[in-house]
Amino acid sequence: MNIKKQEAAAHLEVNGKKMDLDVLCGVENEVAMDGLQLRNQTGVINLDPGYGNTGSCVSSITFLNGEKGVIHHRGYELKDLAANCSFLEVAYLLMKGELPNPDQHRQWTELVRDNSYLGPSLQELLNHYPVKSHPMSVLASVVLSLTGFYGDLGHETYYQFDMDVVRLIAKTPLIAAHNFRRKRGMNYIYADPSLGYAENFLHSMFSKRLPKERRKIMATALEKLLIIHADHEQNCSTSTVRMISSSDANVYAAIGGGIGALWGPLHGGANEAVINMLEYIKMRDGDLEAVIKRAKDKDDPFKLMGFGHRVYKTYDPRAAIAKEVVDSLLKDLGVDEPLVDTAMELEKIALEDDYFVSRNLYPNVDFYTGIAYKAMGIPKEMFTVMFTMGRMAGWLAHLLEFREDENRRICRPRQIYAGKPIREYVKMEDR
Ligand code: CMC
Repeated sequence: MNIKKQEAAAHLEVNGKKMDLDVLCGVENEVAMDGLQLRNQTGVINLDPGYGNTGSCVSSITFLNGEKGVIHHRGYELKDLAANCSFLEVAYLLMKGELPNPDQHRQWTELVRDNSYLGPSLQELLNHYPVKSHPMSVLASVVLSLTGFYGDLGHETYYQFDMDVVRLIAKTPLIAAHNFRRKRGMNYIYADPSLGYAENFLHSMFSKRLPKERRKIMATALEKLLIIHADHEQNCSTSTVRMISSSDANVYAAIGGGIGALWGPLHGGANEAVINMLEYIKMRDGDLEAVIKRAKDKDDPFKLMGFGHRVYKTYDPRAAIAKEVVDSLLKDLGVDEPLVDTAMELEKIALEDDYFVSRNLYPNVDFYTGIAYKAMGIPKEMFTVMFTMGRMAGWLAHLLEFREDENRRICRPRQIYAGKPIREYVKMEDR
């Protein structure tokens, strides 16, 4: 790993015990104290609920600077990747470390294309979910059950793992589209090998009812949205995937857990929550002030959805790209989406309000993406599935990296106990 040890160590003295901690420096000059021996040498642990100050690993995939709004993958700026690459190219970059050359690109897209089908038993399985199921629950559960179709309950060979990667990238959009169509009483549509990744997803969702020209416009936007979702270093779902994987659980178990983590409204589920919030504002005749007031009220659990981020203390660079995608998508489709105006007004008010300014709360990636999905005719309950399709590439890249990390150990945080002190057992009749 490309990290340097600084000459001067950090010194710690606690409960009369002294310890020198190595100070490590990353490629972009991020600094960490190596706390691996902290408990062994001092008997003390580092308490950090929510892991805001905890580096869980050394990684070479994505760099973020939340103060400056910088994000790059394997050294390439996200905005350059979104402007120039397809999603499959970026997925390859994340997993393999380099952009594919033409031969590698051909082989990779062919592999994905050849695995872009759902076999009869998988289709049958999908047909048995209650139609009311949330698409994220179906996706998580089907991904977990892929072990039964392709795995051997873990302990897969590396060849098998590579194929698992291909299958997950290829089949996730088809599982999502199958679920969408079944809920509406429509038949399963086979993928079209002549189409690109995003276009094939749109074809599998909407069939020939979606005119080719509109499908192309949407696919261009969708490729970019998948790219901005593709990776974001040690976020909640990626850390979950790494954590599950640390027990040597198989890839489908780890990714299924990641899907569960992404579903929450504080994470990927925020894109669905943003549209609910914008629609609520519209329903209340555009009363933005009332929403801002609620978001600032400490006695109200309501938050301004699509705002704030653990890492970004400035505008989320992904939100800026998402806004551009929304603008050109609506223009190219010739669609007028009134929620854009509501979102922009809300953003303007929040960015001038002292509560949001003083806490560095800016729009995040989820603020505008839902509007793009809505314009494409994708239902709200599928928005987080769209995020999942992109993030799948990042999760798999982190799994690959984690499996090859010579310092990997089972992830097992400690705690500080705050319950009852040890006491005598009380028999049932005496309680
Ligand atoms: N609306 C109102 N207040 C907020 C918001 C918000 N959206 N976000 C943070 N705050 C306040 C928070 O109450 C706290 O105030 P105080 O200092 O007075 O106690 C302060 O800002 C700091 O926030 P925090 O809760 O310590 O921040 P965090 O890093 O623990 O949480 C977050 C980050 C994203 C969970 C949070 O900002 C949030 O809930 N945002 C809304 C949900 C959302 O949009 N999530 C998508 C995140 S981007 C997609 C992804 O990668 O997951």
